[in-house]
Amino acid sequence: MTNILVTGGAGYIGSHACKVLAAAGHTPVTYDNLSTGWADAVRFGPFEKGDLTDRNRLDQIFAAYQPAAVLHFAALSQVGESMREPGLYWHNNVAGSLTLLQAAVQAGCDKIVFSSTCATYGEQDKVVLDEESPQNPINAYGASKRAIEDMLRDFEAAHGLQHVIFRYFNVAGADPEAEVGEYHRPETHLIPLMLDAVDGKRDALTIFGTDYDTPDGTCIRDYVHVMDLVEAHVLGLDWLQEGKDSRVFNLGTGTGFSVREVIEQAAAVTGRDVPYLEGPRRDGDCSKLVSGSSRAEAELGWRPRHSTPDRMIADAWRWHQSGHYEK
Ligand code: UFG
Repeated sequence: MTNILVTGGAGYIGSHACKVLAAAGHTPVTYDNLSTGWADAVRFGPFEKGDLTDRNRLDQIFAAYQPAAVLHFAALSQVGESMREPGLYWHNNVAGSLTLLQAAVQAGCDKIVFSSTCATYGEQDKVVLDEESPQNPINAYGASKRAIEDMLRDFEAAHGLQHVIFRYFNVAGADPEAEVGEYHRPETHLIPLMLDAVDGKRDALTIFGTDYDTPDGTCIRDYVHVMDLVEAHVLGLDWLQEGKDSRVFNLGTGTGFSVREVIEQAAAVTGRDVPYLEGPRRDGDCSKLVSGSSRAEAELGWRPRHSTPDRMIADAWRWHQSGHYEK
């Protein structure tokens, strides 16, 4: 059993990662300040409460567990909030990651898998985005993640800290066994908000913008199932443990769906109407973000097996209807 330090292991993606890490024979050690995560999402290994910016606490954790690698999920991740409060993003995401990297280097931990985002690309002329596309983020969230990517490259050159960077597209769905799932407060993501509207927890979903330059006027995103996404992290960890070079991978399916198309799918899966209103654009949103890369498939052997909209919505709906949702 190898200890793997999972920052943000009490959050949506981190908790799913802990499940697949444990299934792959690792011990996931969750490090989370519970600012956006949930203690009862930590079900597959030890929990250590702490903040990324707390160097003393990180030093204790590295000494106590001697992790073979870090999976670094912990971050603030709301685009709209990042536009209103950029300082929070530079502090928590950038300064927090710097503290984590310094602690890892001092402890002799030389492998890290980092959660980056397609938001580092920003608005592009090209329809599809691959890992070599320029990174011009249009919001502070994307800027904070791009800065951490730069930091990782510098730490590799100077200290030999090997990294795999995953640039996520839109993560959705939940554990099909509904042991863990998506639970953000406040919730800002399309699919859980839509399911709240379906079962009356909120009045209606608001579509943010219907005048984009897309076929139906609404934003297009590349949705990837959270279980597929975290399986890629286990492959990324194997990649580093096999001694391969640091690498960046997009994690998306290459197929985009508009907000209206996702609404139609949700109606089909749940068998109910999705009440919605048409509203103005949301600050910081790109019109279209779709992965144009098969690098993760070609090099990591990643196969996104669950990432169809009906499957993601069905798993999110099962989780939504489970008792766990009512915390
Ligand atoms: N949307 C609505 N109404 C809502 C919520 C979302 O119309 O109430 C739309 C958004 O405008 C967007 C799409 O649904 O077009 C998806 O929105 P999400 O908020 O679910 O996801 P984002 O695309 O904004 O965010 C995701 C990740 C971020 C990442 C970003 C890149 O959650 O971490 O992609 O743009 F930065």
